[in-house]
Amino acid sequence: MKTNQMMTVGVLAIMLLAGCGPGQDKRAVFVFPEGDALRGRETFVALRCHECHRIDGEAGLPAPVWSAEKVVVLGGEVPRPLSYGQLVTAVIHPDYDLAKHSDMRMPSYNETMTVGQMLDLVTFLQPHYKRLQPVYSDQYFLH
Ligand code: HEC
Repeated sequence: MKTNQMMTVGVLAIMLLAGCGPGQDKRAVFVFPEGDALRGRETFVALRCHECHRIDGEAGLPAPVWSAEKVVVLGGEVPRPLSYGQLVTAVIHPDYDLAKHSDMRMPSYNETMTVGQMLDLVTFLQPHYKRLQPVYSDQYFLH
């Protein structure tokens, strides 16, 4: 296929994925395939997420390297429950919400983490958030 044909196909695919096809509204709709929670747990340790995080209700992970007051607990009964989309955002766009813990920055994994690892991580983490919205609804609207 010629380069510009491939680009056209690529752009169309992105438009369809982003829900911008003719007649559709422009709200972003992402429906991710389900990850594997067990692999997500392994990835959590392999990518050293445990160095800064403890997970509510998850025993047996290596201890964080930061002092207890710096450690960010993931999951549990949170005052502002994260939606699935917010959880994905937290993993792939950590600079988005710099409100707290400004002296400890979560690194970006986007050049090293595979999409599969990201899906596994979120599938592993999601059930730890007690009041999250359903994960795999037919459509997810970002608001
Ligand atoms: C160097 C420390 C550090 C590492 C390593 C780290 N994080 Fe974070 N993470 C943070 C900080 C700081 C925040 C922001 C916490 C806040 O909102 O106060 C955060 C926030 C999060 C949140 C949102 C928490 C919430 O409930 O708002 C998730 C989910 C998360 N991290 C997952 C991960 C995953 C998965 C990894 C490994 C791929 C990882 N983190 C590695 C420091 C780290």
